[in-house]
Amino acid sequence: AVPALIVAVLSYLLGSISFSIIFTKRLCHNTDIRTLGSGNAGLTNVLRSVGVKAGILTLVFDFSKGAVSVYAGRAVFQYFGSLSGIPPYFAQYGAYLAGLFCMIGHIYPVYFGFRGGKGVLSSAAMLLLLDWRLFSVAIVIFALVFAFSRIVSLGSVLAAISFPISNFLFLYFQDYHAGANGAIPLSFVWITTLFALVISSLLIWKHRENIRRLKNGTEKKLTIHK
Ligand code: G3P
Repeated sequence: AVPALIVAVLSYLLGSISFSIIFTKRLCHNTDIRTLGSGNAGLTNVLRSVGVKAGILTLVFDFSKGAVSVYAGRAVFQYFGSLSGIPPYFAQYGAYLAGLFCMIGHIYPVYFGFRGGKGVLSSAAMLLLLDWRLFSVAIVIFALVFAFSRIVSLGSVLAAISFPISNFLFLYFQDYHAGANGAIPLSFVWITTLFALVISSLLIWKHRENIRRLKNGTEKKLTIHK
């Protein structure tokens, strides 16, 4: 319980640092990104409403905070696990927990009135650090959808849907059955898939306005502010 609490609190505090708000303020005369474009504190809206430079900074820093959280979450669980002789797969719970709380911080940031972004970059970083197979599936879906539609939200939602599905399929059929990665128990497959389900539901819930616009055919394609 102690390591879980440490990981959750630290990841939430790190996730709460919303770099789209910070860099837009810096580069745009103290403007709040949440008053521009779609009103979202995220990369797409920074590109749309501020420009490439702020976009690149947001991409690098928001992605990194997700990556650092997941890496640190796993390390904390590894440390406590090694003290109490818990099996190696256990550390991966720390990674899922950290990813979830970093994303919650990004969406409901404590430093910015609990109004943040939609958690796309933080969950992308999480997937990359969790398991390259999960990341590969999601990024290919995102890239294909975006290449054909030029709509970021559509790519984000469809990639998010893939997460719990590929988490279950890879862990159940590859790792659990093949006994790879030092044999994981079935409970691990289910618990991590539940985490994935919560994360992807949160992301989809945050895109509810986008989904409404997609249905109406009024969702905007990505444009870049010059
Ligand atoms: O970055 C989140 C993306 O999926 C949608 O952003 O600004 O178009 O609502 P936005």
